[in-house]
Amino acid sequence: MNIGTVEVEEGVLLAPMEDVSDLPFRVICRALGADIVYTEFISSEGLVRDAWRSVKKLTMDEAEHPVAIQIFGGNLDVMKEAALIAEASGPDFIDINCGCWVKNVVARSAGAALLKEPDTMVTMAKTLVDTVQLPVTVKTRLGWDKNSIIIVDLAKRLEQEAGIAALAIHCRTRDMGHDGDADWAWVEKVKKAVNIPIILNGDVNTPEDCRRAFDMTGCDAVMIGRAAITNPFLFRQAKTYLRTGQREAPPTVAERIDLCLQHLRHSVNYKGEGLAVREFRKFYSGYMKGLYDAASVRRDIMTYSSFAQVEERLWRYHAYLLERGEDDSMSNTTELTEYEEHAMAV
Ligand SMILES: Cc1cc2nc3c(=O)[nH]c(=O)nc-3n(C[C@H](O)[C@H](O)[C@H](O)COP(=O)(O)O)c2cc1C
Repeated sequence: MNIGTVEVEEGVLLAPMEDVSDLPFRVICRALGADIVYTEFISSEGLVRDAWRSVKKLTMDEAEHPVAIQIFGGNLDVMKEAALIAEASGPDFIDINCGCWVKNVVARSAGAALLKEPDTMVTMAKTLVDTVQLPVTVKTRLGWDKNSIIIVDLAKRLEQEAGIAALAIHCRTRDMGHDGDADWAWVEKVKKAVNIPIILNGDVNTPEDCRRAFDMTGCDAVMIGRAAITNPFLFRQAKTYLRTGQREAPPTVAERIDLCLQHLRHSVNYKGEGLAVREFRKFYSGYMKGLYDAASVRRDIMTYSSFAQVEERLWRYHAYLLERGEDDSMSNTTELTEYEEHAMAV
């Protein structure tokens, strides 16, 4: 598929995720094979007010392109201004969030609220397409609830009336939040109705899911959210599987620790040591999932405030696992590890 100058084949994309898809995580995921990464959603009002929290989220690294900046908002003029601010910071395209289900976003007529006002969504998309030079894409859901699934008609309108460059579909309704099974069948229907690239999102948790999504629906790319948090290696595993039909060997414990520390080091550089070490807590369980006695290591790490403490503890843990003969056993098998099984179950 092409989005402007970005060209990817059977693309595996990192989803926008608030407090997760920050610059350090995006760099890690790109290095592991994600074809395109998205910023977490950024408030249009925050950008226009020059609020530092919003503006900081525009920071990008050379190494992470292609990258999309995702913005959200309910006010057309503010969205226009925010899109221009986002464009000036140099992403490859701009994405409009039309799927966020949380109450304080919906209450501002933004995110999934636009599913109740498809005319407004189409007008907003067209306005941004006309405002910026870069391609504009939309990420949305199937509809507000199971009785109002509008995605096929909406996709046609976003293509024909607004001129968006691609559409990412989270295959759940707003009512479902993140629960229940994503219904990929709608993507197949949308693909038959439009010519723009369609990105399938929701419940893509394993390399096999990626293959199935492409084969079942004819989608142009898949987008991975929560499974990337528990297993960032998934991008590499998925790309290998899509290319060869074979699962690559799971990462060794040393690789996992090394990646975890690289990720944490990027975070320290990006947001300062105290905050980075504290906010990194959400990632440890993924990096150590299924490893022997990982819970006690995690308990220790939760009390630390410096990178050096975490680094020392993780390598000491590695030495302990080696003594028990645990490490190489992880690299010599293509069986699913408990870690990957968890990623599939998320
Ligand atoms: C912690 C978290 C934060 C999220 N933040 C955003 C966001 O900023 N913008 C967005 O479009 N979707 C956001 N989402 C939704 C994801 O992009 C994705 O649509 C959803 O998780 C379904 O994909 P998955 O089944 O692969 O997780 C978020 C999801 C999670 C779990």
